[in-house]
Amino acid sequence: MTEQPQLQLITERLLLRPFTLSDAPVVQRLAGASEIADTTTNIPHPYPEGAAAAWIAGHATQIAAGTNYPFAIIRRADETLVGAIELHVQPAHHRAEMGYWIGVPYWRQGYATEAARRVIAFGFDTLGLNRIYATYFTRNPASRRVMEKAGMRYEGTLREWIRHADRYEDCGICAILRKDYEQAV
Ligand SMILES: CC(C)(COP(=O)(O)OP(=O)(O)OC[C@H]1O[C@@H](n2cnc3c(N)ncnc32)[C@H](O)[C@@H]1OP(=O)(O)O)[C@@H](O)C(=O)NCCC(=O)NCCS
Repeated sequence: MTEQPQLQLITERLLLRPFTLSDAPVVQRLAGASEIADTTTNIPHPYPEGAAAAWIAGHATQIAAGTNYPFAIIRRADETLVGAIELHVQPAHHRAEMGYWIGVPYWRQGYATEAARRVIAFGFDTLGLNRIYATYFTRNPASRRVMEKAGMRYEGTLREWIRHADRYEDCGICAILRKDYEQAV
């Protein structure tokens, strides 16, 4: 794995870059929407005051340790922060779990798909991973669609895998292997 990867990733419409503390107010507002908490595992609702700043403050250590690569998703045209995407690395297995959210005002414009494709390329080309996977609540087909459009394959459903807001959620899992990725590019 590379020691200090380049963490500014460009796509046609987006810049993916590490968060800074000045992003906290926007993250607080976007991640605080109930629609985001509804289909994610680790975002509480109500989103506590200061939670965004605390989350961002932890990133530098995670990146330095190579255990997590969180990126702010910035729309290049107007430098608006529209969401977040991250790769949680499990180094022993050369594997990572991808997670993401897009702020509600920016849904259905292809941003999640565009960001996921770029982060998958980063995971294989820069981090040297062998497998990237992601899970989604089965009642959230949009997220499965993002994964499949980004080249991941549905592998199955983990029944009642997550307890979320006092209810058990069935979770689908999708993944892409290095060999799939190399065949596709
Ligand atoms: C899921 C989420 C990331 C999708 O982001 P997005 O930027 O709107 O997704 P995209 O625009 O790239 O859309 C990808 C595909 O999903 C489809 N899609 C998006 N929202 C959808 C919805 N609410 N219902 C059905 N399909 C939807 C799009 O139509 C597109 O498919 P298509 O090209 O075949 O039409 C966003 O809705 C979100 O952040 N939700 C809350 C948090 C969350 O669920 N995160 C993922 C946890 S696993």
